[in-house]
Amino acid sequence: MALKKLPGLIDVHVHLREPGATQKEDFYTGSRAAVKGGITFMIDMPNNPTPTISIERLDEKVELSKKGLCDIRFHFGTNGKNLDELPKAAARPEVFGLKIYCNHTTGEMLIDDPVLLQGVYSSWPVGKPILVHAEGEQLAQAITLATTHGQRLHVCHITQASEVEMVRDAKKNGLSISAGVCPHHLYMTGEARERLKGFAVMKPPLGTPEDKAALWAGLADGTIDMVETDHAPHTRAEKEQENPSFGVTGLETSFSLMWKAVQDGLITEERLIEVMYSAAKKIFNIPEQEDTYIEVDSEATWVVGEGGYETKANSSPFEGMELPGKVMTVVIRGKKVVEDGSIVG
Ligand code: NCD
Ligand code: ZN
Repeated sequence: MALKKLPGLIDVHVHLREPGATQKEDFYTGSRAAVKGGITFMIDMPNNPTPTISIERLDEKVELSKKGLCDIRFHFGTNGKNLDELPKAAARPEVFGLKIYCNHTTGEMLIDDPVLLQGVYSSWPVGKPILVHAEGEQLAQAITLATTHGQRLHVCHITQASEVEMVRDAKKNGLSISAGVCPHHLYMTGEARERLKGFAVMKPPLGTPEDKAALWAGLADGTIDMVETDHAPHTRAEKEQENPSFGVTGLETSFSLMWKAVQDGLITEERLIEVMYSAAKKIFNIPEQEDTYIEVDSEATWVVGEGGYETKANSSPFEGMELPGKVMTVVIRGKKVVEDGSIVG
């Protein structure tokens, strides 16, 4: 065994489904999936069936999330009509950003009316980032809006080569912009749909081989700042039906997939720590978790899905893949949560 001590990993983009869709996941099962994957701090998205667009809904989530085994915090949501709530939400220590949906996906928070978008960009107090689900042209529009309103912008799950180019240019122009990439977009292209059917269906959709190459290049050169899983659990039945729900799981596999990238020479180990920990901490101003670390067996391998999953979704697009790097220990604020690869907390 070759044990390597690393910081507790951070994931700024997860959907833990509670309240309202706990057949897919809840804060407890989602946190089990997180710690199994070495993640000790994660930020939950607002697209619940009753979206997190009021302080009341936020308070409810804060309360419910206390059963988690790791730290769970929140991004606030908007439908463009909750402008009064935005400054109140931004002032809350549990809130790390505002999520705007500029393209259709799970949930009902799409804003495509430019007047509403203007209102949101001008009402969110400058400081904590605005996160966008914005593909292609929508991303160009978001960059313009963020520039006009002096907002910090985080581009969620960047997918296309042209989007990487847009972020690279915006950074050159001095905009305070960051981008996150999901392991599934780094490892898979649209061809995977043939083999995986619904298990390869997500938003944004899998790209082309050129997109995938641009994502790796962007991750290595710093254009893309971090890895985010977009852990979006749905039941197996929902993934196997004719029109599969959008989204795939990611919490249990992201570290090992990125460790594989280190072994394959695609990124350095130093860069892995940046993209799975330090960049997120800096960009989202995440407080230090005292006496928190993980230990990974860097030489061990494991097969995704063998021995089951912690996520209620009970699936992974990487099922059957042999991955290097096994999370053996997770300690959060001095308390052991994972020991010898098993959850004990
Ligand atoms: C997400 C979900 O299911 O909540 N789905 C997805 O395909 N990524 C929503 C989202 O992040 O777009
Ligand atoms: Zn998402």
